[in-house]
Amino acid sequence: MKYLLTESVRHLKLPSIKVERKTFPDGELYIRIKEDVKDKPLTIISNLTPTNFLELLFCVDAAKRAGAILKRLIIPYLSYARQDKLYCPGEAVSGEVVCSVLNLLNLPVVVFDIHNPAILKSSHLRNVSLLPHLVKSLPKANYLVASPDAGGKSRAAEIAKILKAPLIVMKKSKSSGKIKVKLMDKVKGKDILLVDDMISTGGTIIQATKVLKLNGAKTVFCIITHGLLVGKAKQQLKKSGINRVIVSNTLPVKEALSITVVSIGSSIKKLNLNK
Ligand code: R5P
Repeated sequence: MKYLLTESVRHLKLPSIKVERKTFPDGELYIRIKEDVKDKPLTIISNLTPTNFLELLFCVDAAKRAGAILKRLIIPYLSYARQDKLYCPGEAVSGEVVCSVLNLLNLPVVVFDIHNPAILKSSHLRNVSLLPHLVKSLPKANYLVASPDAGGKSRAAEIAKILKAPLIVMKKSKSSGKIKVKLMDKVKGKDILLVDDMISTGGTIIQATKVLKLNGAKTVFCIITHGLLVGKAKQQLKKSGINRVIVSNTLPVKEALSITVVSIGSSIKKLNLNK
């Protein structure tokens, strides 16, 4: 089975329908499907990066016009999702804008571990978690599952349920751009499993690890779906004392000393996406 892929998911190395892409001298993008997809079932896979929304929309349009039977659009990583509500007056709720536009495609859309699944309600978009898949790559231990902030509690709770493990929730705050993570529970001698949707600057996980280790945690492992790893995140992680971060490759992440990358390419087919 071949997929229609945008450039953002080339790293998944899935079999792909041939697409011609070019940029006109004025910067406009041109998309043309170069294979016969008429009356054939087709799944489109594309991340939604901060800059590729038009490429994604053009691919959907080209597939519809070429007569493909569009089964679904899979968006492994959907950017802008963190702006899920109005935090300050005058803001745009970017996450909602993006989801509303995707909803207009009138097509089943699957996203993986969106920051706040509540943003998807009353839409054609469905959230699937890759975290239970990542758990399989952890070394065996009696983990104490930890969410680094209150917002991630239900995500971590699902993993605690799978592992039949206890759950703690840490408290995250930000002041002048600096992340602080507070611990309210005893962790001495425990193997901790931090669970989060994404790692961007690494600030959240690094601060959580530091406080856990300072309070006597034996080991700190972490499962995270989206590895943005911007700036010096990788180097800082290495210094943080974290034992291992297990991350999926919704985004192109390279393995490193403390980072294990779990491929979702082959498991995309196996995931139960037909619900
Ligand atoms: C925020 O609430 C998210 O769930 C992540 O914890 C956060 O976006 C991670 O970002 P960073 O790695 O920059 O701390």
